[in-house]
Amino acid sequence: MSAKPKVLITQKVPETVQNYLNEHCDCVSWDKEGIMPRAEILEKISDMDGVFLSSTAVNAEMLDRAPKLRVVSSSSVGYNHFDIEEMKARGVLGTHTPYVLDGTVADLVFALMLSAGRRIAELDAFVKAGKWQKGAVKGTELFGTDVHHATIGIIGMGRIGEAIAKRAVHGFDMNMLYHSRSRKPEVEDRFGARFCSLNELLVESDYVVMITPLTPETEHMIGKEQFSLMKPSAFFINASRGATIDEQALIEALNNGTIRGAGLDVFDVEPTPIDNPLLKMPNVVTLPHIGSATDKTRYDMAMLAAKNLVGVLTGGEAYVVQELQGVAKA
Ligand code: DGY
Repeated sequence: MSAKPKVLITQKVPETVQNYLNEHCDCVSWDKEGIMPRAEILEKISDMDGVFLSSTAVNAEMLDRAPKLRVVSSSSVGYNHFDIEEMKARGVLGTHTPYVLDGTVADLVFALMLSAGRRIAELDAFVKAGKWQKGAVKGTELFGTDVHHATIGIIGMGRIGEAIAKRAVHGFDMNMLYHSRSRKPEVEDRFGARFCSLNELLVESDYVVMITPLTPETEHMIGKEQFSLMKPSAFFINASRGATIDEQALIEALNNGTIRGAGLDVFDVEPTPIDNPLLKMPNVVTLPHIGSATDKTRYDMAMLAAKNLVGVLTGGEAYVVQELQGVAKA
């Protein structure tokens, strides 16, 4: 019987996922909270055939130390932490976890829209601070902005974009615009959505939702000029990656009243530093990159990432990221 492939599991995974991995691979696993420190990954990766991770940078520094490596399996749908060119050059495949998190991330986008529009986090703090006094809600100062029947502009129309569209149109009767690399006629038919230029979307939307993957083309796609096109009553929601926007430009747009508010699950630097001015703004809802973080979805992602890892190493099926499909070890 041939030896099992050797794999490095850099984060704690649910027991059934670990059992599955143990059945098919010879595993060196991190069993503490958090993730294996990078220095330890670099030290242990030298004789590995595969590695399981989620946001650790896969770059020349790591790949140079891993001559046997055939696959990096990421327990995430986004893979901007993969240096695609370096992986291609060494014939290392990269896999990710599409489909299983679409609805969960779309739910979170709506939580951010509702929370920013209806000022949920701000007013929760108001009540808990004992500021709710008789008559305090009779004036207009606690009023928010409707989500239903408003115009949503979705930037990026992949699977998560579609799950957001479904909620927007079927759940909240929203008018829908979208902008993406390619036009999606089926999305237009299903949701009565209108494909438009980025500028048109920014000008017309009440809620601009950023859900495009981070690539060299989408890095800082939204900056000062783009924020200046938005309505002063509009909200900006980012559930993609921090670097798809110019965070400084967002801070200025919020400070100047160029836009009304924002809902952010992602930041330029994560964890975002405590002195980030966004954290002081009552009209900004901030979350610690938890788009896919529910028990079920994170379990499904871990199991899919495990299956991808085993799939590549044993000749089975795997969700290899688009740019690395067909890449073979030299
Ligand atoms: C992903 O999977 O890329 C999401 O950002 C959750 O981490």
